[in-house]
Amino acid sequence: MNAAARIMLMITALAAQPLSLAPGTRQIARAAAVREHPAVSGDGGAACTTCHTEVTSARVVHGPVAVGQCSACHVVDTGAGVRRIALKGGGSDRDTTALCVACHDDVAERLKLPHRHAPVASGSCTACHDPHGSPFRFQLPADGDGACVRCHQDIAEALAQPHVHPPAATSCRICHDSHAGPQPSQLRARSNAVCGGCHVTAPADRSDAEAAALFGRHAADIVERLAADGSRILLDASLASGHPTRGHPVDRRQDPSRTGRPLDCASCHNPHGSAGAKLLRFGATGVSSLCIRCHGK
Ligand code: HEC
Ligand code: HEC
Ligand code: HEC
Ligand code: HEC
Ligand code: HEC
Ligand code: HEC
Ligand code: HEC
Ligand code: HEC
Ligand code: HEC
Repeated sequence: MNAAARIMLMITALAAQPLSLAPGTRQIARAAAVREHPAVSGDGGAACTTCHTEVTSARVVHGPVAVGQCSACHVVDTGAGVRRIALKGGGSDRDTTALCVACHDDVAERLKLPHRHAPVASGSCTACHDPHGSPFRFQLPADGDGACVRCHQDIAEALAQPHVHPPAATSCRICHDSHAGPQPSQLRARSNAVCGGCHVTAPADRSDAEAAALFGRHAADIVERLAADGSRILLDASLASGHPTRGHPVDRRQDPSRTGRPLDCASCHNPHGSAGAKLLRFGATGVSSLCIRCHGK
């Protein structure tokens, strides 16, 4: 094909773009930049990696990439006569959910839970997982809490406070599911039940299945140690009152300091870290500066 014919084809391809795109959007800018992909002799393995060596060179390589199955996700699209690489099943860089859960049905199951983590809900699996590989487990961009705090600067700051909650320093995933959970903040149980798992009932009072339901399945032995170390508080039999002073509610009330939120352990304690002892909220360094936050007038 001569140059003039190719330009005509590209103009036709651009004219075929949906009209709903407002001029000046990123999509237009991308479409205008579409270049023809070099010819390929196959749909995977060496047919791709001879040119894209970096894709398979990470320390932790994603299963299908390791076996050269590029075509599990990429297809050579020759629509409008322009040879380019597209994601399978109409997936886009911004929403890869359908592409990924085609092989990961356990994740598809969890995405049905009501409280989905924002980047998961918007389909940005690749905001956390490199689709090809990375130096870290699960193809993450960092190890442990590093994979989380790069987007949650406020939590990174809490972890730099003088008093850090040991489970938060150990792994965010002890309490939060990375993808989705049945309770707000992707918790696996009511907030107070999560705290109670280490501070109200002793580990001996609990079955392994209950522990896994509260804390996930990734760090069972570490969690057992943290649960054993957590100091116990005494609550009334209802588990709704009895701390920090006799008869004081810890549940089933509104939180006077946070409109619309229930009173719970996290009303008075920061689950991540704090300036004062006992992980007290509001920067309180002593009991009296805490009480006035809710009993000020
Ligand atoms: C002859 C070398 C060569 C081969 C073989 C090759 N590619 Fe490419 N590929 C390129 C070049 C050059 C680019 C453009 C790179 C750029 O824009 O920085 C590219 C770009 C891409 C892109 C990015 C496209 C985009 O829209 O950003 C993907 C995805 C891709 N190739 C996948 C593949 C797959 C899958 C195969 C095997 C079926 C393959 N390539 C085989 C040279 C090759
Ligand atoms: C599990 C699905 C999946 C497999 C398998 C896969 N890719 Fe990709 N690839 C993607 C996604 C998704 C993107 C877009 C990345 C983004 O938006 O962050 C991508 C992007 C690319 C790019 C663009 C540059 C980059 O790194 O972002 C190249 C080149 C590429 N893939 C080559 C390959 C080759 C070669 C193989 C086979 C060895 C392969 N891919 C296998 C999902 C996959
Ligand atoms: C063609 C099937 C296929 C597709 C599509 C696919 N994966 Fe995978 N994935 C696998 C296989 C196979 C493994 C390795 C076996 C395993 O560990 O479960 C794997 C492993 C993983 C792992 C590591 C699991 C572990 O326990 O170490 C993560 C994370 C992952 N995939 C995320 C993704 C994401 C994100 C996407 C979409 C961009 C995706 N996968 C698309 C097949 C697929
Ligand atoms: C906010 C970061 C983040 C996003 C976004 C994300 N993941 Fe994950 N994913 C993780 C972390 C961290 C792990 C490590 C193990 C865990 O927490 O379950 C993981 C583990 C996995 C695993 C392997 C172990 C398991 O739990 O089955 C798969 C498969 C997976 N993710 C797929 C996906 C898919 C598909 C999407 C998009 C719908 C996605 N992830 C979006 C952070 C994320
Ligand atoms: C790519 C950026 C990104 C990464 C990485 C990320 N998050 Fe998030 N997360 C968000 C966004 C955006 C929100 C929604 C806005 C908000 O509440 O800050 C959110 C919300 C949350 C919430 C709920 C906040 C609420 O008010 O209910 C929790 C809990 C959370 N993330 C935990 C984690 C954990 C644990 C990890 C690591 C596995 C992680 N995040 C990694 C972007 C990210
Ligand atoms: C001991 C359990 C626990 C651990 C471990 C934990 N969190 Fe939380 N987190 C909670 C609870 C409970 C809430 C809800 C607090 C509330 O009601 O205000 C929460 C709230 C959040 C929120 C939203 C509200 C806010 O404070 O901004 C984000 C984001 C968050 N956590 C991220 C993380 C990250 C990142 C890690 C790891 C560094 C982590 N969490 C570790 C229990 C925990
Ligand atoms: C996986 C176990 C675990 C979970 C879940 C957990 N903690 Fe802790 N917590 C600990 C450990 C271990 C310590 C450090 C030992 C100690 O002082 O109790 C600690 C310390 C504390 C302290 C400080 C005690 C002191 O003497 O300084 C408070 C307050 C606290 N946790 C509240 C909470 C709240 C509120 C929740 C729920 C959001 C929670 N914890 C969930 C294990 C846990
Ligand atoms: C109304 C505020 C408030 C609520 C709600 C609250 N706490 Fe506390 N908590 C405190 C104060 C104040 C202290 C410090 C008491 C002291 O230093 O004498 C404390 C101390 C603690 C300690 C340290 C005990 C020790 O032996 O030093 C733990 C653990 C703890 N709380 C866990 C929890 C858990 C779990 C919940 C939810 C069931 C909860 N707290 C709810 C205010 C609260
Ligand atoms: C996060 C908000 C909050 C903080 C902080 C708080 N309280 Fe309360 N307190 C409540 C709520 C809610 C009630 C129930 C009010 C009602 O029933 O109308 C309550 C009730 C009480 C009562 C009456 C009920 C009873 O029998 O105990 C006393 C006394 C009390 N608080 C003392 C304290 C003291 C002392 C502190 C500091 C250690 C404190 N409170 C910190 C929210 C808080």
